[in-house]
Amino acid sequence: MAQRETWTSRIGFIFAAVGSAVGLGNIWSFPFQTAANGGAAFLVVYLLAVFLIGFPTMMVEFVIGRRGEQNPVAAFGKLGYGNWSFAGGLGVLSTLVTLSFYSVVGGWVLSYIVGSATGAYFGDAGAYFGSVASGPTAIAAHGIFMLVTIGIVASGVTDGIERATKFMIPAILVLLVALGAWATTLDGASAGYSYYLSPDFSVIANNFGSIVPPAMGQAFFTLSLGFSVMIAYSSYLGRDDSLPADGGAIVVVNTMVALLAGFVVFPLLFATGGAEGAGGGAGTAFIAIAGAFGQLPAGGAIGFVFFAVLLFAALSSSISLLEVPVSYVTENYGYSRSTTAVAMGLGIALIGVPATFGTSWLGFYNDVVFKLLLPISVFLLAVFVGWVADTEAVDELGRGSTIGESFTTAWLWWVRVVVPLAVVVTLYLGIDALYTGLTNGAYF
Ligand code: PHE
Repeated sequence: MAQRETWTSRIGFIFAAVGSAVGLGNIWSFPFQTAANGGAAFLVVYLLAVFLIGFPTMMVEFVIGRRGEQNPVAAFGKLGYGNWSFAGGLGVLSTLVTLSFYSVVGGWVLSYIVGSATGAYFGDAGAYFGSVASGPTAIAAHGIFMLVTIGIVASGVTDGIERATKFMIPAILVLLVALGAWATTLDGASAGYSYYLSPDFSVIANNFGSIVPPAMGQAFFTLSLGFSVMIAYSSYLGRDDSLPADGGAIVVVNTMVALLAGFVVFPLLFATGGAEGAGGGAGTAFIAIAGAFGQLPAGGAIGFVFFAVLLFAALSSSISLLEVPVSYVTENYGYSRSTTAVAMGLGIALIGVPATFGTSWLGFYNDVVFKLLLPISVFLLAVFVGWVADTEAVDELGRGSTIGESFTTAWLWWVRVVVPLAVVVTLYLGIDALYTGLTNGAYF
């Protein structure tokens, strides 16, 4: 069997993992979830979830991946706990569902790049969304987005993923900073900042049950946790760098990108109205953002840059979503990478087709992943690492790093107790919301 690929450098791994983390979640979903859940109050809960639960969970996936040195299903067997393979398998399942609709939204982004160039959304932003978000245009754009994703993954871990993300991540950072600087010049800037940054703690207290699940779901989603992605990516490490240091860098850069996106989106929305319109769901953020660009001087050119950033972010994530099932099938069944990437990519594209019929399917896919699959998968991984493979996990976390025993012990207990508890609460609230949505016809 061919030698397993590894990242060419430590920075290559960090770029790829940041690429996975930075995505539609940061630039599209984060601002609109913030708008939907009380502005700065949501931001506070989200940041707590990222650092207190997300970061330790990333270490959970890293220790499994680097020690297992296999795809996320086989890794468990390699560690000597083959009967836990289903936990990695659940992550693989989540990547299939997620990529299917992620690519549909990626297709919308493509249409918005075109619309920025042609000015097609300047007149009636809502009508433009309606014309590209479902129907033949949506299917075609979804197909194109998936083909690009397939092309990168088929080229391999270093020649495809590492090379693409080394270009896209710096581009995203530079362009977002430039957009943030432009946003300071807008009339709505100060109203936008204050909505975004001055938390009203009574909002948190009164809406705890409705803020925590989306904040926690968003924290996992934005860090690509619970999808076995970080297991797969850390399995290509092949060297002993410090996992906490790498993970810390990834979490910090990812958070910076989300915060920066807020510094662009909120002034923009307040320059032409307010944030209320943006929080209504998947499509409203596109309508509100494009609508604002349509009204501003040079809005087309700036919108073009904004949606190009969004496209890079979406692609650098979609490739990680495809890499997980591809690594599983190539390693466990011996098919070639390129054949597998094409076959799986096209199959996943088919699963996504219903999401081009209307945004309610998309919302349903999204909620099943956020509220059900993700928390269950994180719960299983935390229990596995905390209680089953704990000795190996602690040893692996310490390898290549100078962190002391007190850090690894604290982490272990955190993973044993706090992470599962937090996830169970989220799961309970999430299932409740999913059930309510299904019974009151919110989806179909
Ligand atoms: N983290 C990505 C985002 O924020 C989404 C993603 C989730 C990508 C899981 C890969 C795996 O958009």
